Amino acid sequence: MSADDPTDILLSSDQIRDRIEALGLQISSDYAQSESLILVGVLTGSFVFLADLIRRISTPTVVEMISVASYGDATKSSGHVRLLMDLQNDIEDCDVLIVEDIVDTGRTLNYLKQLLSQRKPGSLRVCTLLDKPSRREVEAVPDYVGFEIPDRFVVGFGLDHAQRYRNLSYIGVLE
Ligand code: IMP
Ligand code: MG
Repeated sequence: MSADDPTDILLSSDQIRDRIEALGLQISSDYAQSESLILVGVLTGSFVFLADLIRRISTPTVVEMISVASYGDATKSSGHVRLLMDLQNDIEDCDVLIVEDIVDTGRTLNYLKQLLSQRKPGSLRVCTLLDKPSRREVEAVPDYVGFEIPDRFVVGFGLDHAQRYRNLSYIGVLE
């Protein structure tokens, strides 16, 4: 830790690990019959969560990444979502599970669900580590939620502020 790291810990690494284990079990059971599960990680924030989650999933799984821009360096959403990097492969008839770090205004998820549903996946669901339902501006309902959190700006475990703090092993509040 360096001196200006957030010391206000919202979720400890132990809490996060236990919750991810439970999510992995749930997803493995829900997709036990699936022959085409694709986890779509939303870069950059979800990569830490995705890395831990996938090792808790026992169903055969393919990983893809997609990249969208919404926030820039501010702690406020610009309201715009832009596709920066698309999937590598077709998802038609596949079971697609979008893996997000956090759902805030819901704009990113709304955009991604619209984009991917046009490609006719067999199913399309969302798993997010964190959910801030009180901040929603557009409808976005994740199917799997690690933790519901209050309206605070959080960093760590993949989440950043101006690209910093992603390496923290816990979720901390940045004031
Ligand atoms: P939304 O489109 O407003 O739902 O925002 C989703 C994206 O905003 C997330 O994928 C994050 O990259 C970013 N974001 C929202 N809230 C936070 C936060 O508290 N900490 C860090 N990033 C956040
Ligand atoms: Mg994100």
